[in-house]
Amino acid sequence: MFRRLAKLLQMLFEYLHDMWQFTRYNSHSPLQPRSKRIGFHTVIETHTLEKGLALPKPRPFFGLLKIKTILRMQQQKGVERELFPREMLLGALAAYLNWHKEYPDKPQEVIDQIKNFIEVERAAGVTAVGGVREVSPPINDLAAQQFLQSRYSSRIFDEQILPQALVEQIVLLAQKAPSQCNRQSSKVYVFSAKDKIDALLELQGGSKGFSHNVPTLFIVTSEITAWGGPQQRNQLYVDGGLFAMQLMLSIHAFGVLNCPLNLAVSNSTEATIKKLADIPPSERLIMMVAAGFPSPASEGAALTVASSPRRPLNEVLYTSRN
Ligand SMILES: Cc1cc2nc3c(=O)[nH]c(=O)nc-3n(C[C@H](O)[C@H](O)[C@H](O)COP(=O)(O)O)c2cc1C
Repeated sequence: MFRRLAKLLQMLFEYLHDMWQFTRYNSHSPLQPRSKRIGFHTVIETHTLEKGLALPKPRPFFGLLKIKTILRMQQQKGVERELFPREMLLGALAAYLNWHKEYPDKPQEVIDQIKNFIEVERAAGVTAVGGVREVSPPINDLAAQQFLQSRYSSRIFDEQILPQALVEQIVLLAQKAPSQCNRQSSKVYVFSAKDKIDALLELQGGSKGFSHNVPTLFIVTSEITAWGGPQQRNQLYVDGGLFAMQLMLSIHAFGVLNCPLNLAVSNSTEATIKKLADIPPSERLIMMVAAGFPSPASEGAALTVASSPRRPLNEVLYTSRN
């Protein structure tokens, strides 16, 4: 009885700590740097312009108020502006002007503001990366289905560390994960020093029996400042989880073995991991992923992994009949 009560109290304490962290680092917190808050805000609002242009029938001159707000935000004096939001905004505004170029009755004041902003940004050497793009429709791709079927968690790796160039290719592909309003709050930290991995996995606790042979370790995190307000309090885990999934698929796609590792830890253990891994306090840990090549000795041979059978479909899929 006493043990149960202690657990409940501990849970309350952890939740209070979660609440404090979100309040302290979310995008409405005045304690967070203005440039970072403006950066995320710009990306989020700019994406609404991109989305507007990608609708079946965009409403002519939609979002003018929004555009004014973004421009005002970007033109605030004395704030260092992050490059990526500027590039994305430049692309979206150029696409917005382009889409409206045939319209006769333009709201000239805002259009001039946009043109002026684009000119200044281009003169400053900013490149445009946002807007809309043409894509091919998805195809019924058997190879892709087989690839998705073929993913598994492996707990046996060769000792060879993943080369940095490969890590970069893996993470670039993982970045294709969708994120809410394209804010991309997820980050990846990669480790290959044995001592560091040993210490991190000791704190993780779920890799007993194979932690000693993990050659490369990824930690996925999500930036709290990308999120703001009470409704978004848990969303960083949604985006972070999706990113982690794409990271695992990406690792698999490059012919590398991996195993997801939970970070179901207390706030104090999370703080210790962050300190050890040099992860800023404004980020929350999502999970770790152990990765490595199959042993060359096993070439061609089957690898042994846990079966992890799946539940029957009728326990997972509920199709609405009305
Ligand atoms: C978020 C998450 C955390 C996990 N944590 C661990 C872990 O700490 N240790 C471990 O050996 N496996 C861990 N796993 C792997 C699961 O056991 C495995 O994904 C599951 O059994 C399904 O098997 P499969 O990945 O081979 O399809 C984790 C998986 C997920 C998604």
